[in-house]
Amino acid sequence: MLILGIETSCDETAVALYDDDKGLIGHVLNTQISLHAPYGGVVPEIAARDHIRCLLPLIKRVMNEADAVKPDIIAYTAGPGLIGALMVGSALANSLALAWQCKVIPIHHMEGHLLAPMLEEKKPEYPFLALLVSGGHSLLVDVKGIGKYKLLGSTLDDAIGEAFDKVAMLLGLPYPGGPEIQKLSEQGNQEAFSFPRPMLKKPGYDFSFSGLKTAVMLAVKELEENGMIAHKKADIAASFQKAAIDALIGRTLKAARENNFDSIVISGGVGANIMLRKNLKESFEGKVFYPRFEFCTDNAAMIAVAGAYRASQAVSAGKIEARARWPLEDINYQ
Ligand code: KG4
Ligand code: ZN
Repeated sequence: MLILGIETSCDETAVALYDDDKGLIGHVLNTQISLHAPYGGVVPEIAARDHIRCLLPLIKRVMNEADAVKPDIIAYTAGPGLIGALMVGSALANSLALAWQCKVIPIHHMEGHLLAPMLEEKKPEYPFLALLVSGGHSLLVDVKGIGKYKLLGSTLDDAIGEAFDKVAMLLGLPYPGGPEIQKLSEQGNQEAFSFPRPMLKKPGYDFSFSGLKTAVMLAVKELEENGMIAHKKADIAASFQKAAIDALIGRTLKAARENNFDSIVISGGVGANIMLRKNLKESFEGKVFYPRFEFCTDNAAMIAVAGAYRASQAVSAGKIEARARWPLEDINYQ
């Protein structure tokens, strides 16, 4: 069974082909980063227009490279995300499925992230604890099987990726900020500033990053006033990164130990962070799984593989699904 995956929820136009026997056959991606960079964040109207420009040529390319005539199912991201961007993927997926007489399946973007490690040779077994960390989400999820997701914790304010992006902006670094902060941190001292590790002593498993962001903002302001900022940017980046990663790992270990998980999955854009991967692996006594770097950030391979696991729920084309907000626990594809 051949599944065509389409991802257009934010600023990446991505297409993939997945075969439930052979695995991933092809995947391509066009990033809009340079289009949004001058604005310091994603501009929804620009995102939707560029998906329109790129999506069909990318689908043609993946199909041609694989010598595929038509897929059996088209799996597309139906939410959560930017509504105009989602509608491009959804409308094209449904139109092509009508023409090809195949079925569609509207996929939850975060379920895609959650299942991305299934694209790797070493796959996690259920149950596992998933730490889903991206530009829009910071979630701890109890995963008992496909569709059996229980939210253990989420953020009370900013998502962790958003915090990386905002701190990068304060330091004059380009968007997206996560990889930039990681790079600059290599030249900095992570002990130079003692930023708060939010929520570590609080009960439950929720995150909060606004206090950390404010602490960084105040430190940057003071350094600017003293004319010292240029010499201290790397120290700020390294100290922020360490505080943010400590906060993520502290909550994740607490959730894993208190709920007896012996496997943890890290996924989502911030899951590409090397310190997060390394420090969690070193501090957790069980197994840690994560997708390869390119499948941590948004991509269509994860949507196609989610479509493969959800194949029995594929429906006839014609209903264009697009939801800006969509809680992970509310997935009901039929
Ligand atoms: O999953 P993703 O590609 O898109 C969303 O669904 O949001 O995540 C993008 C986020 C951005 O905030 C970006 O700064 C962050 O992931 N990110 C990172 C790293 N690579 C991407 N954050 C920290 N370290 C990284 N290496
Ligand atoms: Zn994402």
